[in-house]
Amino acid sequence: MRLLIKGGRVVDPASGMDQTSDLLIENGRILQLGSDLDSPDVQTVSASGLVVAPGLVDMHVHLREPGFEEKETVATGCAAAARGGVTTLVAMPNTRPTTDCPELIRLVREKAVSTGIHVFPAGAVTQGQKGEVLTDFTALHAAGAPAVTDDGVPVQNLALLRQALQTAKNLGIPLLDHCEDRDMVRNYAVNEGAVSEKLGLPGRPAIAEELQVMRDAMLAEETGAHVHICHISSGKAVDIVRRAKARGISITCETCPQYFTLTEEEILRQGTMARVNPPLRTIEDRQAILDGLVDGTIDAIVTDHAPHCQWEKEKPLPEAPSGMVGLETSLALALTGLYHTGLLPLSRVLGLMSSSPAAILGLEKGRIAEGSDGDLVIFDPDEEWTIDRNEFVSKGRNTPFHGFTVRGKVKYTISEGTVIYRED
Ligand code: DOR
Repeated sequence: MRLLIKGGRVVDPASGMDQTSDLLIENGRILQLGSDLDSPDVQTVSASGLVVAPGLVDMHVHLREPGFEEKETVATGCAAAARGGVTTLVAMPNTRPTTDCPELIRLVREKAVSTGIHVFPAGAVTQGQKGEVLTDFTALHAAGAPAVTDDGVPVQNLALLRQALQTAKNLGIPLLDHCEDRDMVRNYAVNEGAVSEKLGLPGRPAIAEELQVMRDAMLAEETGAHVHICHISSGKAVDIVRRAKARGISITCETCPQYFTLTEEEILRQGTMARVNPPLRTIEDRQAILDGLVDGTIDAIVTDHAPHCQWEKEKPLPEAPSGMVGLETSLALALTGLYHTGLLPLSRVLGLMSSSPAAILGLEKGRIAEGSDGDLVIFDPDEEWTIDRNEFVSKGRNTPFHGFTVRGKVKYTISEGTVIYRED
């Protein structure tokens, strides 16, 4: 089985390659790069005028299965990934039951096989994400988990977290941490500040995130483990990571399009659609996130794709669940907010969404080179379009970006040489 991609602008952030080239994929792997390639019995895709980049690697996705199939399934979440140019993703463990044992890691992986998306479920840090007893990291890793996390429910117990980091270090896997002190944020809906005051609601203070990032950095230094901070949203937290990196601590972090595009003001316009944990913060925080992306403090752009049912998001703000979908809009939002604004060159944006997260996870993904997997996204970097949540293939319609005009449109997504999405 051969696939020939003709005449695209091939951008490989890992090697710095950025050139017009043909690309031949055979048996799932990139066989050859070059000009005027031809081959018998080949399926051809014309990429002239388009960018050919590594399939995106989204290291923070909620697929909801098992247990919350009304919100999303592995199949619908993976279809959304394909539509967004994502070929590899890490599925978060806050399912029902929690993916805290090898059987469940294998179950999620098996469900994903037919979708063409490479799904790597993260294992839970603690049994049932209860924050009490550590899971068996070795067994989870052997079953296919590239990392552990109790995402959504931060580990509060420091002795347990320290032990978790020691164990993760011995296995050579990162611990991904959702940083928000639970006693400080409770189930509050919005950032603590001007907007929470205006609404008369208790808020989630930025210090709740910053303290946990500081704590994680210190524990990473002490244990030598690799800590990865999930969806960083506070400017001071970015600065803590910056300083920790300067000290040589093994720490990385990710952010999401919502944090470099929106602010807490969005809650006043869109209510529950803009409710997410950690919350959208101030304009100064947003600027600090942009600065952290530009200076390399922030290592990855992820979606934190968190589908919820329409009826849940119709509840009053204090009761509605937190989260927003993102798989079908992340590339366009990143190109619009970071590349078309001139903040980052194209290859840097793509690196943040492919080679860099792959490296954090130790996955052989996010590369375009002879011999590497034929996972690609082909997109028009300039095409303008309007986000319409009714067109999503995800079950989730909970986006604050409905009606936004963006630039950058996915045309094809290819997984191991098979076209798994084409625009029309
Ligand atoms: O807003 C969020 N929603 N943040 C999380 O950490 C969890 C997620 C979810 O599972 O809905």
